[in-house]
Amino acid sequence: MSHTFISHSPEDLSELLAAGTKEVHEKAENTQFVKDFLRGQIRKELFKLGAVALYYTYTAMEEEIERNKEHPYFAPLYFPQELHRHEALGRDLEYFYGPSWQSDISCSPATQLYVDRIHQIGEEDPVLLVAHAYTRYMGDLSGGQVLKKVAQRALKLPPTGEGLEFYQFEAVHSPKAFKQLYRSRMNELEVDMETKKKIVAEAVKAFQFNMEVFNELDEMGKSIQEEVLDAGMPVHGAGGDISK
Ligand code: HEM
Repeated sequence: MSHTFISHSPEDLSELLAAGTKEVHEKAENTQFVKDFLRGQIRKELFKLGAVALYYTYTAMEEEIERNKEHPYFAPLYFPQELHRHEALGRDLEYFYGPSWQSDISCSPATQLYVDRIHQIGEEDPVLLVAHAYTRYMGDLSGGQVLKKVAQRALKLPPTGEGLEFYQFEAVHSPKAFKQLYRSRMNELEVDMETKKKIVAEAVKAFQFNMEVFNELDEMGKSIQEEVLDAGMPVHGAGGDISK
């Protein structure tokens, strides 16, 4: 067992995942939707549709995680208390859409493809679930706080955090420490190199599914008639500034 020290072998799954998704991570950061979001140029209707996409995605992922929670390939990564997001997203959607939120939302085509893939691997090849959990949860723990601040300011949401529960990991006190724990758990999975490579390839796919959803949101944004809100900057200012 290697949990008594933090190893950094290039053959560690965590290292392979970080290296193997570096390029697609940069691509994801550079999609129009993500760039607009980071600038605080996000319309509320589009932000809500983003939350809907996340709701379907996490509901699928967490369903498959529950199904596989005792599978040796996933059990060490089972942290429902700390990570699971679908309930927080449900509360966010209730805040945005009101009590009838469940009948007011629907799953978009790009989200449906992502959801279908998650169910397929959860049922047929659960070791690949690691790739999907990694792509979303590690990302949320990394950029989440910045995105939360941007959204709060851009959408003028209450400081109480309503509508933004997705970004708030109540049970994770140190995202940095938790990510280290998660990496070491991934590295302790008993998987051979061939399987590790399959997991990395699936993580790249997971990023691509996310990008397809972003691109779809971007397209939907073009047809939504609403004023672009800036990030709560003075009205004469030139858009958002996430450096504050
Ligand atoms: C890690 C920023 C979008 C998934 C990180 C880290 C930063 C970052 C700074 C490194 C944190 C660290 O070293 O501990 C951003 C920014 C984004 C963005 C500015 C644009 C808004 C995304 C997206 C995804 C994603 C769209 C996938 C859906 C990840 C993952 C990691 C990560 C999986 C962990 C990498 C690893 O340590 O193995 N991100 N990210 N990120 N991000 Fe992003």
